[in-house]
Amino acid sequence: MKILSLELKNFRNYEYAHAEFCDGLNVLYGKNASGKTNMLESIYLSSVFHSPRTTKDKEMVRLEQPYATVRLMIERKYRTYKIELMIDSQGKKKVAVNGIPVNRAGELLGVLGVVFFSPDEMKLVKESPAERRRFLDVGLSQQQKSYFIALQRYNKTLKQKNNLLKEYRNSNTDDMLDVWDAQLAKEGAILIDKRREYVDTLNKAAGKFHSSMSNDKEQLRLSYETSVTEGGGEEELLKAIKGAREKDKELGFSTIGPHRDDIKIEIDGRDSRKFASQGQQRTIALAMKLGEVVIFKNELGEPPVLLLDDVLSELDETRQDLLLKMTYGFQTILTCTEYTLPNKAALFEIENGRIKGKTSRN
Ligand SMILES: Nc1ncnc2c1ncn2[C@@H]1O[C@H](COP(=O)(O)OP(=O)(O)OP(=O)(O)O)[C@@H](O)[C@H]1O
Ligand SMILES: [Mg+2]
Repeated sequence: MKILSLELKNFRNYEYAHAEFCDGLNVLYGKNASGKTNMLESIYLSSVFHSPRTTKDKEMVRLEQPYATVRLMIERKYRTYKIELMIDSQGKKKVAVNGIPVNRAGELLGVLGVVFFSPDEMKLVKESPAERRRFLDVGLSQQQKSYFIALQRYNKTLKQKNNLLKEYRNSNTDDMLDVWDAQLAKEGAILIDKRREYVDTLNKAAGKFHSSMSNDKEQLRLSYETSVTEGGGEEELLKAIKGAREKDKELGFSTIGPHRDDIKIEIDGRDSRKFASQGQQRTIALAMKLGEVVIFKNELGEPPVLLLDDVLSELDETRQDLLLKMTYGFQTILTCTEYTLPNKAALFEIENGRIKGKTSRN
């Protein structure tokens, strides 16, 4: 799939911008703080319905303006889509696909598929488990609507349960907890099951990239790490959650379930989350992101759009090459301060919230 055009009004530092992207590599270049990441953010937002870098949606509205709009034309295998998104100064978002208002994020997910890669993702290996869960949640939600629905239900119930645990620490809340726990086990088992399958597939896909980057010297292994020992099915999960009830009551939050799980990352049997060097971390993170791209493409039946924010500067030449080779066959929008590669590309110069010019390099 590809983005044909993007139009921004009062989005971040853009008063107005219109860009027509080409099939292959599109490069947004310009000085720091000119608005390159902002443009990628607007695209990501139109795909996933939330920003990759803020939870405060109103921050995306240009200062002192009542609302921001993002409009995208998308071409997919069988048809074209128009996504129109509006954020008001309170941070309330509205979205329409082909002129029809869409009420929930779930209906927007899957219209435009993107994989976003920034220096933050490069830290995936050493970051807290929450970041690796986010990696799974965003990837899976885009690919499988049933995952997204289970995740939303799970999170909502978990929030309610945690409120109960916190507020009524010393009262008898068992009846209510029974209800929440049954729901958590039902949705949680779906999450664990799908995540486990996803990580297994990722293990194979990422493993290949990792081997080629390390000249077959190192063996990467990814596995899903869950706090539920046996199987992780609904029954086992419920048993584990109930088993932790007294502890949870004491602590005031829920300690068992997929919201505490992680991806275990090993190189030659050693835990990379603890022991990987900086270079190894980058290689693993890159392999995982490239693996995500491959899985996404297979799942979707067509290539997603790649959004690469400032990642080339973080990689050495070999890895840059691998990443750029990978982008063949994908529409890619890449940001950098200076573009020095010889690859064929459409170049957009960004200056101070404006697209100053577009050139192409053959
Ligand atoms: N709501 C907003 N209204 C106006 N300007 C904003 C708003 N939000 C962010 N900005 C401005 O946008 C600019 C940052 O843009 P962005 O992060 O896209 O830069 P960049 O080109 O990616 O820079 P770098 O190369 O450093 O990553 C900053 O100058 C910031 O003040
Ligand atoms: Mg940036």
